[in-house]
Amino acid sequence: MERTDIYNQFEELDKRASQGGGIEKNEKLHAAGRMSARERIDVLLDKGTFSELDKFVTHRCTNFGMEKKQIPGDGMVTGYGKIDGRPVFVYAYDFTVHGGSLSETNAAKIVKVQQLALKNGVPVIALNDSGGARIQEGVGSLSGYASIFYQNTIASGVIPQISAILGPCAGGACYSPALTDFIFMVKEKSHMFITGPDVVKTVTHEEVGKEELGGAYTHSSKSGVTHFMCNTEEETMLAIRELLSFLPSNNMEDAPLISCTDDVRRQTEELQTVIPEDPNVPYDIKDIIEPVMDNQYFFEVMPHFAKNIVVGFARLNGRSVGIVANQPAYLAGVLDIDASDKAARFIRFCDCFNIPLVTFEDVPGFLPGVTQEHNGIIRHGAKIVYAYAEATVPKITLITRKAYGGAYIVMSSKQTGADINMAYPQAEIAVMGAAGAVNILYKNNTQEEKNGLIEEYEFKFSNPYRAAERGFIDEIIMPRDTRYKLIQALEMTHNKSQSNPPKKHGNMPL
Ligand code: HXC
Repeated sequence: MERTDIYNQFEELDKRASQGGGIEKNEKLHAAGRMSARERIDVLLDKGTFSELDKFVTHRCTNFGMEKKQIPGDGMVTGYGKIDGRPVFVYAYDFTVHGGSLSETNAAKIVKVQQLALKNGVPVIALNDSGGARIQEGVGSLSGYASIFYQNTIASGVIPQISAILGPCAGGACYSPALTDFIFMVKEKSHMFITGPDVVKTVTHEEVGKEELGGAYTHSSKSGVTHFMCNTEEETMLAIRELLSFLPSNNMEDAPLISCTDDVRRQTEELQTVIPEDPNVPYDIKDIIEPVMDNQYFFEVMPHFAKNIVVGFARLNGRSVGIVANQPAYLAGVLDIDASDKAARFIRFCDCFNIPLVTFEDVPGFLPGVTQEHNGIIRHGAKIVYAYAEATVPKITLITRKAYGGAYIVMSSKQTGADINMAYPQAEIAVMGAAGAVNILYKNNTQEEKNGLIEEYEFKFSNPYRAAERGFIDEIIMPRDTRYKLIQALEMTHNKSQSNPPKKHGNMPL
């Protein structure tokens, strides 16, 4: 063959492989308002940086006439490229090839990428859109899933792993995303469930549509499976890029330092009055978080789930920080089962990836009730204290108002290992609120007597000074100075070096 023919042949084969399941199937995808695997990668990565691997891999299945349905690449687009100039690996299910179903061979393509990413300390992004195990292959496909899950687990805590669900994701296939650090879903386009509506109907006789059972809204507000709900696929890709900007590429690095254009000494006068004078009146904790962060920007994670706790990323003097904050505007900021799970997982993520933790605390306690107790608030609540206590990253805590009882202890208190604990002058650090305390200690007294005792209790305990006297609070600060005080504490702890005793791993309450 002439050299030009060889090149032409390659270009022809390459073009064919790029078309996946063919023009018709791609048009069908577009008509349904969905992008193809390669279009998604195009939006996700820096322009022109994608190198595709294994483009000519084909399956080896001969069941049900599959030998006549060979498509180069076998419905999986894998490779590497860059986001904001930093390397990432990506794999994308191509729905136009056998419904994006997972074959033994395309599972091997994913595993190759996962291993390369782990070896090179580079994040992996999975773009899921799949009919699940390739039915014609049987157990070969199942073993492929097992290998992917294994790699997900081994890479956990070493490199960030991010999943986007952009179509169906059913059955055991859900467990790869669930093993990764963050899940993104698209409204009305993506669905995750272990068993779909038909099986649910057969087994439990419940009638439910796929959106209600496992759509983006359900998983971001009810189950807590997904962290981000986006309106479109494009928005999803841009949100993934933004999330990565707060993260290091692996657990041996620090997150990228962004040059800070915001005055580090900027005072935030509005914080002097943000907290209502009546301690029982709620306020939005984001009205404290946002003004003090660089450019007043806060990237919230899981905004729709367990709203009584707020978590997310921001920057202080250009450095990424993980924010954990009680939310007095929702259920008075109590800690319950879902809030405990949400906070603990986020704290552990930040600790894995060297992101300092800044905690804003205004918590009246744990949520009382039979449902909470019977569903295990004890074991779930223990996760927060465990996560904070084992975290060795810098930990700064600021008590803005209430810090009562066990909830005070678990929210990164001094003795659980926080580096710097601050409080506003209106902070109340006590076993419980004044009225509750007096009703227990003086239950047989008259209301008039109780009122006097409440006043006495408030004077004695509803302030930060008892804790400050013991050194449990390092500094009482004016709200307007919050930004500079946090930045100072973070700079002081920047070279923190602490490690826990050697062990295989701890036995965290789950
Ligand atoms: C092989 C599959 C497939 C699968 C879809 N296709 N799912 N091929 N294995 N699992 C093929 C279809 O035959 C069709 O091929 C093409 O993909 C598009 O599928 P359609 O049904 O036409 O598309 P749509 O109407 O959009 O429906 C998509 C779908 C549906 C919701 C995903 O196809 C579906 O329900 N598929 C089966 C899902 C499932 O039960 N999977 C197994 C789950 S159990 P043609 O040639 O006509 O284009 C599992 C175990 C994993 O995954 C365990 C891991 C531990």
